[in-house]
Amino acid sequence: MSFRSATAVDYVEDVSPGSGALPPRAWYPASDATSLSLNGGWRFRLSPTADAEDDSFAEPGYDAGGWAEVSVPGHWVLQGHGAPIYTNHLYPFPVDPPRVPTENPTGDHLRFFDLPEGWDLADAGTVLRFDGVESCARVWLNGTDIGEFKGSRLPHEFAVGHLLRPAGNVLAVRVHQWSAGSYLEDQDQWWLPGIFRDVTLLHRPAGSVLDFFVHASYDHVTGAGTLRVDSDADGRVTVPELGIDIATGEPATVPVEAWTAETPRLYDGVLATEGERVPLRIGFRTVELAEGLIKVNGRPVLFKGVNRHEWHPERGRALDLETMRADVLLMKRHNINAVRTSHYPPHPAFLDLCDEYGLWVIDECDLETHGFTEQAWRDNPVDDDHWTPALLDRAARMVERDKNHPSVVIWSLGNEAGTGRGLTAMAEWIHGRDTSRLVHYEGDIDCRDTDVYSRMYADHAEVERIGRGLDGGTHKRRQLPFILCEYGHAMGNGPGGLADYQRIFESYDRLQGGFIWEWIDHGIKDDRYGYAYGGDFGEELHDGNFVCDGLVFPDRRPSPGLVEYKKVIEPVRVDGDAAAGTVRVTNRYDFADLSALDFEWSYQVGGETVESGSLAVPALAPGESAEVKLPEPPVATGSGETQWTVRALLAADTAWGPRGHVVAWGQFPVSGRQLTSFAASAGPVVSDGGPITLGPAAFDARSGALKTIGSVAVTGLRLDVWRATTDNDDGAAWQSDIRYGALWRKFGLHRMRHRLDAVEPAGDALTVRTRVAPAAWEFGLVTVYRWTTDGSRLRLTVSVTPDGDWTVPLPRLGIRFGLSAADRVRWFGGGPGEAYPDTKAASAVGRWQSTVDDMQTPYLRPQENGARADVRWAEIGGLRIEGDPEFWFTARRWTTEQLDAAAHRTDLVAGDTVWVNLDHGQHGIGSQSCGPGVLPQYQLHAGPAEFSFVFADIG
Ligand code: GAL
Repeated sequence: MSFRSATAVDYVEDVSPGSGALPPRAWYPASDATSLSLNGGWRFRLSPTADAEDDSFAEPGYDAGGWAEVSVPGHWVLQGHGAPIYTNHLYPFPVDPPRVPTENPTGDHLRFFDLPEGWDLADAGTVLRFDGVESCARVWLNGTDIGEFKGSRLPHEFAVGHLLRPAGNVLAVRVHQWSAGSYLEDQDQWWLPGIFRDVTLLHRPAGSVLDFFVHASYDHVTGAGTLRVDSDADGRVTVPELGIDIATGEPATVPVEAWTAETPRLYDGVLATEGERVPLRIGFRTVELAEGLIKVNGRPVLFKGVNRHEWHPERGRALDLETMRADVLLMKRHNINAVRTSHYPPHPAFLDLCDEYGLWVIDECDLETHGFTEQAWRDNPVDDDHWTPALLDRAARMVERDKNHPSVVIWSLGNEAGTGRGLTAMAEWIHGRDTSRLVHYEGDIDCRDTDVYSRMYADHAEVERIGRGLDGGTHKRRQLPFILCEYGHAMGNGPGGLADYQRIFESYDRLQGGFIWEWIDHGIKDDRYGYAYGGDFGEELHDGNFVCDGLVFPDRRPSPGLVEYKKVIEPVRVDGDAAAGTVRVTNRYDFADLSALDFEWSYQVGGETVESGSLAVPALAPGESAEVKLPEPPVATGSGETQWTVRALLAADTAWGPRGHVVAWGQFPVSGRQLTSFAASAGPVVSDGGPITLGPAAFDARSGALKTIGSVAVTGLRLDVWRATTDNDDGAAWQSDIRYGALWRKFGLHRMRHRLDAVEPAGDALTVRTRVAPAAWEFGLVTVYRWTTDGSRLRLTVSVTPDGDWTVPLPRLGIRFGLSAADRVRWFGGGPGEAYPDTKAASAVGRWQSTVDDMQTPYLRPQENGARADVRWAEIGGLRIEGDPEFWFTARRWTTEQLDAAAHRTDLVAGDTVWVNLDHGQHGIGSQSCGPGVLPQYQLHAGPAEFSFVFADIG
């Protein structure tokens, strides 16, 4: 006897893709056929299990008066019903495919609608389209069951014409959070059930367009484009601008301008069948694998890419067009030229934007089974024939939907799904269906099924080996180009080492670039925390803030990582030769010449621009360089440090950026820095029972602690080696390399003790001798503070001598102190934004100003941030501080310890004191939260060091 009988919800655990849906076909936004959006407010009822309620709600006349309402597109868990769950790769339910838990939140949705005037029900069909529902839906129209489907980020259409009425239609959709399909959708992201993309009713007049495939190739030798539109319904294709008027299925070859991501030339056309006119946007381009390289229109491309999940901090993966456009504009303005749609096909309108503005796209299928790694990939659906129809269905729904986008150059089978026959079947199907694009899948290490060798997070040395062709691998793989489909893990502060990757990419033809992980932090706007991340909703299993690893914050404000990436991948390189008075300008575009850019020089003295003008640079072809003469340098006023800055700007407004937008820049010094002279004059004065005075400063006589500089009170000045560990310092738990965050804590670098050995007022100096070391360990830093004055200013020289066996680098090395009342900050040095040793490319030397609050980078999980590099001098809180040598400057309204202890931004409460760090050194950032650690040249090792600061009261 069985306790469990077949029920009306067995489809939930069925491995098949579903039943009742129409075959997949091309997506197009609008035609002259009528359509009706069913987006908006829907009635909603949440049940705890898949079959808690019967399906009577689908019957016309059902009274849903007591139901709640949700917005469609949307996720019910972001609208007050249940809660989101974040896991990286662990399935948040027992792994027992295809079974799912009995607790299966199920949302019943109801939408009532009338047809618009003139909707012809007699002689025509109507299709009901769902663009995305997570994870499994069953659909009824006017009480008739029309089918069920899985494949959350894929479209599903149903023929419904025979069921419609002019008025009073009832569309009922039952959505289950968990289904067999969930096993195929284990992407690292929030689990967010709901009808999260558009629902549309499409009128299908007799003789309307069914499926069609636009083939638009470009012959780079002749400059001709060949267009052929294959269509299930016969018709004509016109492209007025090209004088094309051909039958479907018939080719036409004419001279055209090619489409590339840099020059996204689209031609407007129309596909007209007997019953419908569909607008086409045609881009002519040819993608091929030739001579071991990915070539477009005959030339190899270098991907400067990013992985994009769909995200909005309030609406989750339910994105509106303006949010999608904001992503594309931000990418274009930051020199990004490629997107991998990790890890599912995006809202189809996003690809229209990629066509229009110009981005290379790797379109990835909605497939990941990463959780099976926990059982050594046993029972992985992609290696089990039962699941193959579902995999093929997903592949077909992606390819058929998106095949008409010139921006899509590569299909990706999915992400982190191990290996297996199902993937091979997908690749074979795709290769057969579309010979005009390449196939990618990172998990196929031998490239059995793929056309590109792809890896994630390989370190610099390995990428270089691959570039040299010394990485071995199968014969087939050795012939293939290489991309890093993920690198530069942008979690928290970082990623570091991007410039080093870029140098390697540009040195070897085989390396065709990479895609940063990832575009946006998936923080959820939250009253308690500002932005919530994993664990904030009481999840049983979760992966914390690993979901916040983007180049933009959840509100799409660029993080320093994006600014750095923009600089690292800039398409124009400017190298100066001050002695020769020239700059070498190199065009690093793959297709465009430099005619869209203006160049401008400026000359800085002491960081201030004293003169600027335009620079005539020839319209260099891709790859070309030219030596360009600079004007005579302006006569320097004073003896300050001087430098040239040369910038490449948009010469005119473009679709994505205004005239004057800075695309690239370079700086190079002319004359170096001259320190203001400082001659120690008066020595320390010791008064009985009172403080020690030295020029403008007063010190505590017992401890040697600095108390005041003129009118400015200073607290707690001492050596500091600690920083609130970054996500990259902490590193991911699975990393086999040393993770310094944990080691630093083990060795007590966050709790250094300061032993006072001597306070020596003697000669022209006050010398304070100390030993700085952690409890429990024998190593330490012998630290001597030597104070002198020239009468009006105060100079501190810090000498540090490591003692004992130092086996770890230091997080930082410098001093810290507290100031009361400080707000505005001015400095001469690197800016305007944050920088660390291996995230410093975008730091431009100049005069900058900001406020203490604005100098904070709001990483969702608070951590070290906000340092400004190469600072010559800074002014804050009534003090001017000059460094010898240049220093790293940081100021914040909380201590490093408070920053370290905070879990969310809301934990940081401004105190009365502004804490200032002046660092001689900072350890690099690296990318160890998922990738490699800090490269050796950016590590900060304990060694003898001496550095000075001159303080003046300017209050
Ligand atoms: C990769 C994975 C991504 C993401 C990333 C870490 O392994 O493909 O989806 O999890 O690591 O943030």
